[in-house]
Amino acid sequence: MVTRIKRVNSSKPMLRNSFPVLTRFSLGSRCSTSIVVWSLVGFLVMLHLYTLISHTDVQRQDTDIHKSHHPILRELEEVEEENILIPPPRKRSPRAVKRKPKRATNLIGEFLDENSHIRHVFFPTIKMAIDPMNEGGNDSFYYYPGRIWLDTEGNPIQAHGGGILYDERSKTYYWYGEYKNGPTYHAHKKGAARVDVIGVGCYSSKDLWTWKNEGIVLAAEEKNETHDLHKSNVLERPKVIYNDKTGKYVMWMHIDDANYTKASVGVAISDYPTGPFDYLYSKRPHGFDSRDMTIFKDDDGVAYLIYSSEDNSELHIGPLNQDYLDVTDVAKRILVGQHREAPALFKHEGTYYMITSGCTGWAPNEALAHAAESIMGPWETMGNPCIGGNKIFRLTTFFAQSTYVLPFPGLPGFFIFMADRWNPADLGDSRYVWLPLTVGGAADQPLEYSFGFPLWSRVSIYWHKRWKLPAQRSGF
Ligand code: GAL
Repeated sequence: MVTRIKRVNSSKPMLRNSFPVLTRFSLGSRCSTSIVVWSLVGFLVMLHLYTLISHTDVQRQDTDIHKSHHPILRELEEVEEENILIPPPRKRSPRAVKRKPKRATNLIGEFLDENSHIRHVFFPTIKMAIDPMNEGGNDSFYYYPGRIWLDTEGNPIQAHGGGILYDERSKTYYWYGEYKNGPTYHAHKKGAARVDVIGVGCYSSKDLWTWKNEGIVLAAEEKNETHDLHKSNVLERPKVIYNDKTGKYVMWMHIDDANYTKASVGVAISDYPTGPFDYLYSKRPHGFDSRDMTIFKDDDGVAYLIYSSEDNSELHIGPLNQDYLDVTDVAKRILVGQHREAPALFKHEGTYYMITSGCTGWAPNEALAHAAESIMGPWETMGNPCIGGNKIFRLTTFFAQSTYVLPFPGLPGFFIFMADRWNPADLGDSRYVWLPLTVGGAADQPLEYSFGFPLWSRVSIYWHKRWKLPAQRSGF
């Protein structure tokens, strides 16, 4: 069924603040008119002062950020700087220089260069792996963003573009993601780097650090070339939620062909978090192309699909039906014309937040945070949530791309930001960047329609070379 999405009127968004001073104009008396005029002048002076202050605040953002009142969180909000030295340009023959003049070297260039001398900075070798089974000492429970992360059997975790389900019934976390442990190649000259579909990997954990491989819970189809899950296709960003009414675990994922023209979502179902999941079907939700996507289950049990559409120029959001196996015919366009993807949605104190990336394929770009009072919008863009590292780290989401934001139980306002540091030369060797995310304090970027007043709390993602969950200080 093709559904028309009601157009969000992006040129005239609703104003949230209505100022009583404006209504008094209609009273007519001279006295009240002068009161109104002076109030208005006062208001404008205040507004000007406020804008000046907030502007200076933005400039000071790197050093003078909001500090949490929660003592446990304070340490995670420390700003950690990175000072990576760019290696001097390599000697090249005059012929090579003539053929291809060297572009200016910067950190992004080094990151994208598979032969860079500082490759180990972004992709540390296996010697530096996080190995929970052999880590008795000081490094216990520490996350090292970017390092290879081993499961309980000593193999690198394969759960890219993933998400986490906390299963109330087994009191266990399940991490689902793309199992990409195969050769990276290009289907054709101009095609994106790819790995054939192997399936969806699943790992279980009680402490969010030690992960047991539960196997491939939704496997690729080897023979049937017409099947959505045929290995020559694309399966990305799988997410699983539990349906309390049907008692089923439901997986949604991005299904595509090698050229990304199918642009659909796929749905699978299981009785158990560890699968096996039965693949049901794929479709273009609401009749629209759908690429990067996620699902979000709200406190009232209503779940939503959020996907990049109209050639990634906007996102669409709409509730799933009661059994979570399909979309309904209700949907809204959001962030129209903003060209965002990799959505990761979360909620804090009744407000919805979302982190997104720009659209640059496997190359990293700047994250943005967005907020909304109602999940169906309007959604407003707040700015870059990344803090620390260095400027290039912040402009590249710490050389990674959002995939999920996990609320941390028992610590309201504290979340784990999960991102992928893609390695386009060897996608299976892409790394995980998990960092603390907090919500609190005033957003530092006044919004377009809020008369310069920050309406939302700031979302902050703090760079750390090494960090651990607050709960790990006293055991989980
Ligand atoms: C990214 C997207 C990834 C993958 C990649 C392919 O933009 O977020 O999930 O589809 O493009 O180039």
